[in-house]
Amino acid sequence: MANLDITLRDSFGSKLGVIAATAGSAIGLGNIWRFPYVAGENGGAAFLLVYIVFILAIGIPVMISEFVIGRNAQRNPYGAFRFLKPKAKWHLVGLMFIVTAFMILAFYSTVAGWTMEYLYSSLLNQFKGEDAAALTNTFEAFRTSGYQPAFWQLIFMFLTAGIVIAGVQKGIEKYSKILMPMLLVLLLALCVRALTLPGAGDGLRFLFAPDFSKITGKVILEALGQSFFSLSIGMGTLITYGSYIHKKEKLGNTAVAVSAADTLIAILAGVAIFPAVFAFHIEPASGPGLVFITLPNIFNQMPAGYFFAILFFLLLIIAALTSSISVLEVVVAFFSEEFNISRKKATFWAAFGIAVLGFVCTMSQGPWDKVQLFGQNLFDILDFTSANILLPVGGLFIVLFVGWFLGKSALKDELSNKGTVRVVFYGAYLFIIRFIAPIAIAFVFLNGLGLLG
Ligand code: PHE
Repeated sequence: MANLDITLRDSFGSKLGVIAATAGSAIGLGNIWRFPYVAGENGGAAFLLVYIVFILAIGIPVMISEFVIGRNAQRNPYGAFRFLKPKAKWHLVGLMFIVTAFMILAFYSTVAGWTMEYLYSSLLNQFKGEDAAALTNTFEAFRTSGYQPAFWQLIFMFLTAGIVIAGVQKGIEKYSKILMPMLLVLLLALCVRALTLPGAGDGLRFLFAPDFSKITGKVILEALGQSFFSLSIGMGTLITYGSYIHKKEKLGNTAVAVSAADTLIAILAGVAIFPAVFAFHIEPASGPGLVFITLPNIFNQMPAGYFFAILFFLLLIIAALTSSISVLEVVVAFFSEEFNISRKKATFWAAFGIAVLGFVCTMSQGPWDKVQLFGQNLFDILDFTSANILLPVGGLFIVLFVGWFLGKSALKDELSNKGTVRVVFYGAYLFIIRFIAPIAIAFVFLNGLGLLG
């Protein structure tokens, strides 16, 4: 077992720090890039409805459970399972988390790289005058060009690794606090512009007027996957962050606040994107390129669009960074604690490994499009498998562990901060993590993959 001096662990400095760092992890490309594109492919409003139900009924309880494990064990996810249940095989779940982290960051950094290119192009005012068709061509040419997106991806990985080396307090917390609220304000400005475009109503109907016939097993699975991806749950990120949360913080309140902020940002992104999608006659099911085609269109139609574009892409890169560091942190905490190596070394090797996989992922979109499985390129495989398969399975193990194996006294201690705060929803929470969430996840999962016949 890792020999670890608990007193030496870094921790988040303040209450705002915890919320800011966790929200920083949750809010990212998942909200602004992935949510609109997945919602667009899965029926819009019907998807949104199922998504919100999952956030409330499953996401928040899973998030609390991750915090409970992390804060109780004071270790990385793998070490936490080993420490809490030394004789069982739970640490294998921890290993699965490490694999998931690798996979997520490999394609996440691709998309973050796209964002950097879009910042650069915005600075040079290159999108000026391009209509939807031209912007689509521009994006496709760039996405499939290979070395160009790979170049940006590498820069993004450097930045991520740099912040992670700086450590929890100084690195992660500082950046999240001021910049996330700025992103929110800018998103609101985008919403105003999108809503005043001619034809905006169709976009709103697409996002908010559900057509229940659109709900299929796959839509439900995608909604579950997106809710996990967006909340950063199901792969130990919040176990890791939980281990940095001070004993005085209330875990339930933190989870609710973060989930609310995350959902708000996703919905606002939808309100900014879909009216514009319909106004500019873009196909809602355009896939991963959706926001990169839609946003420049909005900026082209905005007073001072040049400055808004620059500021927006800059903030989006930062939002992506506060998420990517939380993914890398899982691997780094694991390497450094389990192999007893320095944080610097751990970060180097983790980032290096992910960058290699990420490079192949980016190249698989263009020059190396022969790298395929089931007719899909590596990017689509990593994206689909991590969000819709690995995260829900991870979440299933997390709730089963906390519900059935952790032990009631440890659970109660963590939720009530050793009896010092009242826990209002204890009964409901326990019932969810013991029964509702495991059954629901297993069902959605098997049904969505077509395994229930
Ligand atoms: N939640 C992050 C986002 O929305 C992505 C993420 C997924 C981060 C899983 C950590 C773990 O961008």
